[in-house]
Amino acid sequence: MKNIVLFGGAFDPIHNGHINMANQASNQLDADIFFIPAKISVWKKESAPIEDKIKMVELAIKDNPRFHLSRFEADSKESINYSINTVKHFRKEYPDSNLFYLIGTDHVNSFHKWKDAKELSKLARIVYFKRPEMVVDSNNVREYEMVEISGLLNDESSTEIRELKSLDTPDLVIDFIINNRLYFMKKIASYMSEKRLDHTISTAKLSYEIALANNLVDAKKTLIAALLHDIGKEMPISEQKKIMKLYYKEYIDYPPIIYHQFIGAYLAEKDFGITDQIILDAIKYHTTANSNMSDVAIIVHCADKIEPTRGFKSENLINSLKSSLNNGFVDVLHSNIEYYERHGIDYRNDLQMACLNQYLK
Ligand SMILES: [Fe+2]
Ligand SMILES: [Fe+2]
Repeated sequence: MKNIVLFGGAFDPIHNGHINMANQASNQLDADIFFIPAKISVWKKESAPIEDKIKMVELAIKDNPRFHLSRFEADSKESINYSINTVKHFRKEYPDSNLFYLIGTDHVNSFHKWKDAKELSKLARIVYFKRPEMVVDSNNVREYEMVEISGLLNDESSTEIRELKSLDTPDLVIDFIINNRLYFMKKIASYMSEKRLDHTISTAKLSYEIALANNLVDAKKTLIAALLHDIGKEMPISEQKKIMKLYYKEYIDYPPIIYHQFIGAYLAEKDFGITDQIILDAIKYHTTANSNMSDVAIIVHCADKIEPTRGFKSENLINSLKSSLNNGFVDVLHSNIEYYERHGIDYRNDLQMACLNQYLK
């Protein structure tokens, strides 16, 4: 390897902003990239275990032959690992390579405070991404002979992913987070029984599949909405009723089983800080549906009814939704009516009737 970029970070979790940065550095410097997850933040209780963070980096980089994982900092016995140690390690391992060390723009201005900053900058060329809004200390850039890399940076943050405000990370990483109940998944699990959690995960995965099959720009929104759609369902009805009286008075006479869709939207906003109206509305009408549904809302409504753990044969409906969302939706609505009538369920509330009138006309 001729050129090597060392890319350390918490990767808690890795996201598309990291991948994007690594791609630009790799292209502009014609370099291989080593992702080096740090062992830090054991004190952060929302953090994932280091082995999980490593696994997620592996999943995110596995298709790029120029991307590599280094366990050096993760396996370090030191309580604090200084960058200078990492750089010295790579200098020894790759004596004939040019080393670069990637830092965030926010570190440019404080770089002189780093341990052995001068030596570090001699062993590896310091590289940073320039963010348009950041004023960079040109003294440090000159003193340590830093190299600027240009390119678009998405403003993703690991915090947003941990909190389910964004899912801008590769699909394999999302799957890993969901299956291993990291971050937001741990929180969602605290709202419901195991059985409902299985239903939730199944609904989310099916929603996302349908969204991708239909090339939905908002595919990730279906995932977020589906993951949160039933968080209100296990709240005692008496509690639900109190919230209904305060915020959703117009629906107070609906069958109480329907309350949870409104409560879900309420909790998604209050407890998870979701502000996206498309996501909130998809949760808010997931049971009844209504007359004006976004594609996200249609998908979550349908996936909730027909996801495989429900135990009835739904392959035809799933395939129909995947090949055409609108036709599939009509099929699901017919199947809903048939189900309600067979089971003697009264479905003739205003919201549901408005939906049927609109979409089955
Ligand atoms: Fe529900
Ligand atoms: Fe559900």
